[in-house]
Amino acid sequence: DDALTILALESSCDDTAAAVVRGRPGAAQVLASVVQGQDDLHQAFGGVVPEIAARAHAERLDICVKQALTQANLTFSDIDAVAVTAGPGLIGGVLSGVMCAKGIAAGTGLPLVGVNHLAGHALTPRLTDGIGFPYLMLLVSGGHCQFLLVRGPEDFSRLGGTIDDAPGEAFDKTARLLGLPQPGGPSVQAEAENGDPTRFAFPRPLLDRPGCDLSFSGLKTALLRARDALIADKGGLTEQDRADLCASFQAAVVDVLAEKTRRALEVYLTDKPPEPVLAVAGGVAANTAIRASLETVSADVGARFIAPPLALCTDNAAMIAYTGLERFATGKTDDLTLAARPRWPL
Ligand code: KG4
Ligand code: ZN
Repeated sequence: DDALTILALESSCDDTAAAVVRGRPGAAQVLASVVQGQDDLHQAFGGVVPEIAARAHAERLDICVKQALTQANLTFSDIDAVAVTAGPGLIGGVLSGVMCAKGIAAGTGLPLVGVNHLAGHALTPRLTDGIGFPYLMLLVSGGHCQFLLVRGPEDFSRLGGTIDDAPGEAFDKTARLLGLPQPGGPSVQAEAENGDPTRFAFPRPLLDRPGCDLSFSGLKTALLRARDALIADKGGLTEQDRADLCASFQAAVVDVLAEKTRRALEVYLTDKPPEPVLAVAGGVAANTAIRASLETVSADVGARFIAPPLALCTDNAAMIAYTGLERFATGKTDDLTLAARPRWPL
């Protein structure tokens, strides 16, 4: 049969990952997916330290590859190509992955396929749900926030995106300002469940301007001011203050994402796609309030809403293997001069 088996490596941020995917474009399965996080290594620094991340990737990639092959019950001889994230990301980590993949390709003779990390996120709903083109993708993570019109495996148009922070970054900073544990998204969401989203009137940046661009840095500043005002007033924050700040912050993010998604859908729908789909990816897509609101926005215009399982929404190598499969299936490979790129817009 013409099914392809692709091994992939991912190391562009703070997760070391390897995976094996088998199948065809639009009809593939994850045979193995190994992700080793580094939260413990970076916790004390309050953010990812690139040098520490790169060293850990270099030490762990081999082990992750071995684990993925074992999980899939395969050896290198069963693999058709090795795919690797070649950017964008922290350059030390991307380099570690590219070097390891080149080593495997040189040692086994397997073809090498360089993959764009953002394309990996953007094509995930093709892996999980086998959807066809074109679809609208909202990519929301700790490092990214953009609307992509996905017309083909290598055909993306950016309809808009953040002009400053990514929403995950804003969640993480909010948690830091309020003394909540990292990663901030889940902690802020949990606090928000007991809070009053109307207590603080935080800004909804850029809603007054046309287009699909977003902004989150003003929101963070507003939160800082509200926190400091409470501290100056009462000498500290109560449990309820904290919950209300989180709920009000999250409500602002939900509103901004919902309105900008409405506009991106409008642009996407003008071409009258036969089976309209809004898909999300990235760690922030785990947020239940954000998911619920995007589901409503999609339903309002008759679009299907797809949120891949969380393990495939956050950084992983299965999405890289699948994207490698799409490229390899059209005959595209790279040679050993493949470069690691810190910046690589779609
Ligand atoms: O996609 P991801 O694992 O890594 C990249 O940034 O590429 O996303 C991580 C981000 C973090 O900023 C984290 O706080 C955020 O996703 N996140 C959430 C939630 N779970 C994770 N943000 C809001 N609500 C959540 N439930
Ligand atoms: Zn990512």
